[in-house]
Amino acid sequence: MAIFCDRAYMLEENTRRVLIMSTNRTKAAEEMSTAYGFEQVGEGEKQGKVNDVFHSVAKRYDVMNDFMSVGVHRVWKNVMVTKAAPSKTRPWASLDVAGGTGDIAFRIIDASHKNAHVTVLDINSSMLEVGRDRALKKGLGDNVDFVEANAEVLPFEDNSFDAYTVAFGIRNVPRMDVALAEAYRVLKPGGQFLCLEFSEVDVPLLDRFYDLWSFNAIPPIGQMVTGDKESYQYLVESIRKFPNQESFAKLVRNAGFERVDYRNMTGGIAALHSGWKI
Ligand SMILES: C[S@@+](CC[C@H](N)C(=O)[O-])C[C@H]1O[C@@H](n2cnc3c(N)ncnc32)[C@H](O)[C@@H]1O
Repeated sequence: MAIFCDRAYMLEENTRRVLIMSTNRTKAAEEMSTAYGFEQVGEGEKQGKVNDVFHSVAKRYDVMNDFMSVGVHRVWKNVMVTKAAPSKTRPWASLDVAGGTGDIAFRIIDASHKNAHVTVLDINSSMLEVGRDRALKKGLGDNVDFVEANAEVLPFEDNSFDAYTVAFGIRNVPRMDVALAEAYRVLKPGGQFLCLEFSEVDVPLLDRFYDLWSFNAIPPIGQMVTGDKESYQYLVESIRKFPNQESFAKLVRNAGFERVDYRNMTGGIAALHSGWKI
């Protein structure tokens, strides 16, 4: 009984801490540049810490996504790809930023019946290595390129891509406003911007359950699956610091995009933002 009470007390304490921190979402892009989860870091320090996270979890990243979201991340990604609507006939090029192990790229190529060409860009060589192996195994080598670079400094000409996608990546980029400006620059006029990201839950009770699951289950599952609890502690904290749906839509508009909109998925656990370069 005493053990049960201790455990219940710990869960309650954890949840209380989360509630306090989660009321503290960032609004301006600059605030995100020094927020490493709930920890405040110095200017220029965040990227190195984020890189350590993804070097550490790369090999088990995909399997962990399934555990953590009980497979639902697949549905969210499919919704994003449907909205991207890659052409099945005319030349169609998209850029998947923070594309990691290639999940979005492979879905886009499938949806285009192997017509689209996708450039997967990521700052992390370990994530890209897993992506390259997966592309070879799937026989998609001709449709996809892997580029190691920073979302803040895209090594592409202006007006190069029909679509720009970023899934669960922008939250990790320190200077989000710079990355959004780069997205705008490399899209062709008429090109679509799509961002899938964890967001603010807007369903009563689901928010409490989600907090309990995130802070009490995900880090221990991360420990079990990847041997790295801290990386998944960063993940759940960084989600709570990320701007909510309206604040992020404002940042997308500030970058120059028009007809900016978003759609909540699973009660706002994830949101899909879209905009057009017109
Ligand atoms: C959570 S993973 C998302 C991977 C993939 N998009 C997906 O949905 O499964 C985040 C990715 O962002 C990448 N990333 C972090 N900072 C970046 C930056 N400044 N430029 C490009 N990629 C970055 C990480 O290396 C990591 O692969």
